Amino acid sequence: MKQTYGPASIKILKNSIEIGQYAAEIIIDTIKEKPGAVIILPTGSTPMPMYGSLVRRFEEDKTLDLSGIIIFNLDEYIGLTPDHPLSYSYYMNKIFYEKLDRIDKNRAPKINNRHIPVVNKGESWAKAAKRYEHELDSAIRINPDKQADLVVLGIGAAYPVKNRMGRYTGLEGGHIGFNEPGSKATDGTRAVVLTKKTRMDTAFRFLNLRHCRETFKQQLTFEVPDHAITLGIKNILQSKKILLLANMEEKEPVI
Ligand code: F6R
Repeated sequence: MKQTYGPASIKILKNSIEIGQYAAEIIIDTIKEKPGAVIILPTGSTPMPMYGSLVRRFEEDKTLDLSGIIIFNLDEYIGLTPDHPLSYSYYMNKIFYEKLDRIDKNRAPKINNRHIPVVNKGESWAKAAKRYEHELDSAIRINPDKQADLVVLGIGAAYPVKNRMGRYTGLEGGHIGFNEPGSKATDGTRAVVLTKKTRMDTAFRFLNLRHCRETFKQQLTFEVPDHAITLGIKNILQSKKILLLANMEEKEPVI
């Protein structure tokens, strides 16, 4: 299908709570308009208030039915089990799905429609990535609009880089999913190596986890993963609507 792109608009909001409410309303409008919508979602700290707002709206509004929607996550680390507290699978379950299930299982997204990349035992990373892309493409194929209805994105922090002479030479960081700058619009779903900067940005979470390891029954990895599976820019751009959320000043240079 030939894709056309509408004009991008920027909305500046006061704080992360307002960003969350705004994003949640866009998701709700999409679902009310189309109860079988295919929606791609991010994890991270930025969308947390969005999930909080969605859960609250789901509790208050008994007519809000999420049982027909099909959700795909943007990305997942390779090497963390789904029950690892820093895996994106765990994030989605704790912050979103388990809360919705507790409120009303019948209106919550169906388990089979909660998709996230996973590498099965004995499977290569490349094969797992292709399988995930195939799952997304199949959902899109049966969607009457033949595209995802909405993708919500965060963006990695970016910092100015100096050369040896102390002159600014550009920006480092600013990934979307785990697509780093320089990724191509034709890139599909794939396993990627995480950059040193991306790994350093998340290292504090793994360090904090060490301090509360007694809370968890399972054996935990504290190593920052060095690979992930991510949807590509191609998968993102095929969507009907794209909503990119950014907060905090370290996002400003890349925005
Ligand atoms: C997560 C994802 C990442 C994050 C980005 C920003 O699914 O795709 O690209 O959106 O790392 O993360 P936060 O919101 O924690 O700053």
